[in-house]
Amino acid sequence: MTWKGIGHIALALFIGGSVLWPMVKRVVWNSHYFGTKKSEPDSVKISVFDEALCPDCREFVKSQLGPTWEELRDILEVETIAYGWAEESHSRSGYNFTCQHGPDECVSNMILECSKHYIKDINLYVNFTVCFMGEEEPLPPPLAIAEKCVRRITVDWLSIANCTESVEGENLLHEAGVRFHALTDPKPTEVPWILINDEFNSEAAYNLTGVVCSIYQGPTPAACM
Ligand SMILES: *[C@@H]1O[C@H](CO)[C@@H](O)[C@H](O)[C@H]1NC(C)=O
Ligand SMILES: *[C@@H]1O[C@H](CO)[C@@H](O)[C@H](O)[C@H]1NC(C)=O
Ligand SMILES: *[C@@H]1O[C@H](CO)[C@@H](O)[C@H](O)[C@H]1NC(C)=O
Ligand SMILES: *[C@@H]1O[C@H](CO)[C@@H](O)[C@H](O)[C@H]1NC(C)=O
Repeated sequence: MTWKGIGHIALALFIGGSVLWPMVKRVVWNSHYFGTKKSEPDSVKISVFDEALCPDCREFVKSQLGPTWEELRDILEVETIAYGWAEESHSRSGYNFTCQHGPDECVSNMILECSKHYIKDINLYVNFTVCFMGEEEPLPPPLAIAEKCVRRITVDWLSIANCTESVEGENLLHEAGVRFHALTDPKPTEVPWILINDEFNSEAAYNLTGVVCSIYQGPTPAACM
């Protein structure tokens, strides 16, 4: 081989290497062999403190929670806690409730808490809640709305109905009240009162998707683009 030939090979190796090396480096660097692959990003947790018949709560569930869930369910954890400004006293066997919007609201809150207890699949639970809270006015009796919403999904309706009329439901609603009253930093001044990852977020009430998108750490979901 001539010196010229060796020169050409060296040049080829140099140029090829300088073009390829950054690509190789990027692939190797990002691979899990080097332990730098990102772990699964945490999902965003939405906690909605509401009450069944408050107009702002119903509007929020229908026009914010429902659509945000539809778009971003893969990265969300959702729970609703239906108690709000209810008051309670001990009754003979359980609790006696008085609700801001009357007795139907107490029954409705209890339906929501019993459903949360018995509908274990988060997709079905959110589906039920959005259906129940989104019912058009004039509202039928709470149990009629619930039965209608349950019919579209497969869940244990008897358990929910039994729970609603019983001490079991009273205890579940009482627990919702304990959680609502445990909020002190800050103390709720209105409902719906929304926590994002356990912290109060005032923008979530009107821009839930935007708030979730700006907080989520993982790869940008299509709905956030
Ligand atoms: C429940 O509370 C309401 C309003 O405070 C009261 O009128 C009613 O008698 C109570 N019922 C029971 C069973 O304690
Ligand atoms: C609930 O699920 C049913 C059946 O899959 C679907 O038709 C309905 O649109 C869903 N409702 C909501 C509020 O997501
Ligand atoms: C609901 O209550 C009825 C009547 O008390 C009872 O027969 C039935 O077993 C209960 N069902 C469930 C799922 O708890
Ligand atoms: C909603 O949030 C997004 C992301 O933070 C922001 O770009 C947008 O301006 C917000 N919209 C409203 C109405 O505040």
